[in-house]
Amino acid sequence: MKIGILISGRGSNMVALVDAIKSGEIPHSEVAVVISDKASAGLEKAKERGVETLVIQRSGRTREEHDAEIANALRKRDVELVCLAGYMRLLSKDFIHAFENRIVNIHPSLLPAFPGLDAQRQALEHGVKITGCTVHYVNEHLDAGPIILQKAVEVRDDDTVEILSARILEQEHKAYVEAVRRIAS
Ligand code: GRF
Repeated sequence: MKIGILISGRGSNMVALVDAIKSGEIPHSEVAVVISDKASAGLEKAKERGVETLVIQRSGRTREEHDAEIANALRKRDVELVCLAGYMRLLSKDFIHAFENRIVNIHPSLLPAFPGLDAQRQALEHGVKITGCTVHYVNEHLDAGPIILQKAVEVRDDDTVEILSARILEQEHKAYVEAVRRIAS
């Protein structure tokens, strides 16, 4: 299974996927390309691991034009599964339809609770005692596609956004690897 990963920043979920493929934990798969919409720390980590990287910037174009360039780059490499890993842009309908049921995302809450930005802060402010992360298919609605896998994480009384985010992130890496492993097999 050829995988394309879209990132915007740190890229720790991307690294978890690349490493799990290299170690054989995710079988029959290859990361064909990591694409970022800007220069990012994650891209350097992908390069260090010998994965092809591309920066495709939006730069004054419409969302549709930007997404079309990304879609072409993915098609050129025969990508069959698109993994969003901290990709901070909404995707156009055309892109989502071009890769229907072949785009997955990781989100740092137990969806449908706390979609959108700052999910960990939302969880703290709401006072929930359990939150977590969700791997889901991407459809036209924000953080709303069919759920593949979730992992629960305890919220502690003295948690800050940073501490809670770090606890969730550990589970994100496991959840994303497990979800892609299931899809691959
Ligand atoms: C993660 O918390 C992910 O759930 C969210 O954005 C963050 C990306 O982190 N969508 P990283 O770039 O994978 O380290």
